[in-house]
Amino acid sequence: MSKKSISEIRSTFLDFFKKNGHAVVDSSPLVPRNDPTLMFTNAGMVQFKNVFTGSETRPYSRATTAQKCVRAGGKHNDLENVGYTARHHTFFEMLGNFSFGDYFKDDAIHLAWTLITKEFGLSKDRLCVTVYHTDDEAASIWKKVAGLSDDKIIRIDTSDNFWMMGDTGPCGPCSEIFYDHGAHIPGGPPGSPDQDGDRFIEIWNLVFMQYEQLHTKDGGYERLALPRPSIDTGMGMERLAAVLQGVHDNYDTDLLRALILASAEATGTSPDGSHAVSHRVIADHLRATSFLIADGVMPANEGRGYVLRRIMRRAMRHAHMLGAKEPVMHRLVPALVREMGGHYTELQRAQALITETLRLEETRFKQTLDRGLKLLSEEEARLGEGQPLPGGVAFTLYDTFGFPLDLTQDVLRGRKRGVDVEGFNAAMDEQRRKARAAWAGSGEAATDRVWFELKDELGATEFLGYDAEAAEGTVKALLTPAGQRLETAAAGQEVVVLVNQTPFYGESGGQVGDTGTMTTPGGAEIAIRDTQKKLGAVWAHIGSVVRGSVKPGDVVEMRVDAGRRGAIRANHSATHLLHEALRRRLGEHVTQKGSLVAPERLRFDISQPTPLSHADIQAVEEEVNARIRRNTDVVTRVMSPESAIELGAMALFGEKYGEEVRVVSMGGVDEGGNKDFSIELCGGIHVRRTGDIGLFKIVSEGAVAAGIRRIEALTGKGALSYLEEQEGRLLETAQALKVPAAEVPAKVAALVDERRKLEKELADLRRQVALGGGGAAQADGGAKEVGGIRFIGRVIPDLPAKDLKPLADEMKKQVGSGVVAVIATAEGKASVVVAVTEDVLAKVSAVDLVRVAAGALGGKGGGGRPDMAQAGGPDASKADVAIQELEATLAELVQITG
Ligand code: ALA
Repeated sequence: MSKKSISEIRSTFLDFFKKNGHAVVDSSPLVPRNDPTLMFTNAGMVQFKNVFTGSETRPYSRATTAQKCVRAGGKHNDLENVGYTARHHTFFEMLGNFSFGDYFKDDAIHLAWTLITKEFGLSKDRLCVTVYHTDDEAASIWKKVAGLSDDKIIRIDTSDNFWMMGDTGPCGPCSEIFYDHGAHIPGGPPGSPDQDGDRFIEIWNLVFMQYEQLHTKDGGYERLALPRPSIDTGMGMERLAAVLQGVHDNYDTDLLRALILASAEATGTSPDGSHAVSHRVIADHLRATSFLIADGVMPANEGRGYVLRRIMRRAMRHAHMLGAKEPVMHRLVPALVREMGGHYTELQRAQALITETLRLEETRFKQTLDRGLKLLSEEEARLGEGQPLPGGVAFTLYDTFGFPLDLTQDVLRGRKRGVDVEGFNAAMDEQRRKARAAWAGSGEAATDRVWFELKDELGATEFLGYDAEAAEGTVKALLTPAGQRLETAAAGQEVVVLVNQTPFYGESGGQVGDTGTMTTPGGAEIAIRDTQKKLGAVWAHIGSVVRGSVKPGDVVEMRVDAGRRGAIRANHSATHLLHEALRRRLGEHVTQKGSLVAPERLRFDISQPTPLSHADIQAVEEEVNARIRRNTDVVTRVMSPESAIELGAMALFGEKYGEEVRVVSMGGVDEGGNKDFSIELCGGIHVRRTGDIGLFKIVSEGAVAAGIRRIEALTGKGALSYLEEQEGRLLETAQALKVPAAEVPAKVAALVDERRKLEKELADLRRQVALGGGGAAQADGGAKEVGGIRFIGRVIPDLPAKDLKPLADEMKKQVGSGVVAVIATAEGKASVVVAVTEDVLAKVSAVDLVRVAAGALGGKGGGGRPDMAQAGGPDASKADVAIQELEATLAELVQITG
């Protein structure tokens, strides 16, 4: 028998099926996008679920995969046994081949038998199989293909040989292949009374997918035949490797052994003996943890993130038991990448993130671990033998010292002591009750009450949107826009939808909520026009039912409008780069005072007392665009706020931080530096690499309040369109000026200059005209006699009012002795000046006369000195009338004073 390494076994498997016409398909992520009921992907067929039922098609009808699987949290939870047994894992690889309506039982059995006996060289004598008790067909194929004797084809009448993914979904009878590890190990063949022993180990499960199980209206189930019978198989890599490497324990296979040795070396302990359990726990948990982080799960206090944290802390407690003073887990990542990164390249890509997440989590957990363990020992000392740890103590360990319940259980397991789990749950409920009471007393708006109740009832919505733009979820509640619960919502109805998990981003941190669609298998569709995050935990999807009807319990396929999301991502990342670029240009006093990240633009308010100069704006734009062109990775990590500050993260204005913060770094490390250009605490969604932003352009800068400037900017396509529009205007201008675009500024300057000259010339000409100008100028300006006083009255269109007085002065000189009146009109209004020469002041006053003119022009008043007065009026059309009235008044005045 060949002693293949795990890497070789994997490629032998995939190559064999490739040779036999199968497409080699990548493992799907550990967080299933297409199944709202699963916490983690736990079988190879999960990614093909909808292909079996016919609702999804792929360009191949045969496939093979090595699928990453996690069984921890949720229904399949192997966590507590890991370390203590030969075959439990939280993470494992499932090798599988699939036929989507292509081959069926015959070929499936034939392929499987050929692979294990020919390629892997297993002896027929060591093998036996099971079939579902009514499956005569499978039994006879086995006999024909493998030549197994009847006692080696065992009929099983339990659900063990009818495989179902869950309550609903594709399913069918199955046939399992068992390997006999030998008489020296206790246990009997499958179906025998001592089948649970460890001698006969199932290595491969062939599922003959024939049915789809569905809910019926009355709450029962029905099984419909699949459109085309299909094949789904699953082989546990670790078990097969144990067989092929001639060991009985999965942890003695090459890959896990290498991790155990790395753990032993890092802690300076022996890999075997009393430390064996701890090393196995560390080896297994290192895999689960690293793969989960690589697939976007981050440690958190709820949902998937909490399962990750439980696994991490369980391993860290074991590292602590091995005497490690410093964090250990992150130092094992290179060994894992060596062993598995060749095939699962995501491990290489996420290596830095995995390392840092582990290091920070372990650093942090170490701060409370010792004290928690001390408390646990003290409490234990009070207990009698075998007496369980009170639930209240377990809760304190959880709440104050960060001990997940299963960690406490794991500590006590070695001491043969349990935990009062009911008491623990009661303490947890009591804490929730207190939180509720505290909230009720805090006087928050009554409209929030419904959200508080929903949060209590349904728990937090799990957000998948950092890594996915589409996912399935289960409708948990429907509300009217006013917050009334709905049993169902039908076409035309406005509705707020709550689901268990979602890819939609709920508005926060300045980033607007996502839009998109939700559809049900029954054909209903909801258009989502906004997503809001309530109480920081419950996602409210706001929209209207377009078709069909939905009700709580329905499964919905959720799709974020990806184009819009892409634009939002770019604007959000650009905002971070802008922020740092502004600080570098203007100074450290620049802090964020508000931000809006929308698909079409970004808006950023900063504390800054003076306007930004054009040079500032250019410099900032240049910096941001240079960072974009560097095209470095945008890295997101989760850590404690203290660690984030230590890292140099800029905290955001007005945000409340919990125990966990997301830290987003981007822009690249400068020469001689040791951290990214921009590091901010931010829960928003960003581009993968800064190059995805494309282009950055500031389009406006102005004041919003004292000391606060607002900058608006565009990215990507938006920025490009803006620049194109600007260029279009320039070209249009150039065309109108009939010069190349490059000469537009000079041309415009010349035109402005020319215009100034022309205006001056024009004014001169007008003045000449006013003075009776032209070649035929009369010496006295064409004065007439009014009661013995010389008088000149004139109306001049389009003369600036400021030119009136100088003109009147000149006219006064012209007339020598007498009265002059001149009215300038512009834009429908009129200004009037009256001047009186010294010698006639005794007879007339300019002030009296100008008032008359003003009255005629529809104005009031007027003022000045007796020798020169000015007024105005709104009605330029009365200018001639005003001159006539002025003249008449002058005649009267002369008579009276005559
Ligand atoms: N889906 C089958 C299993 O998980 C192959 O066992």
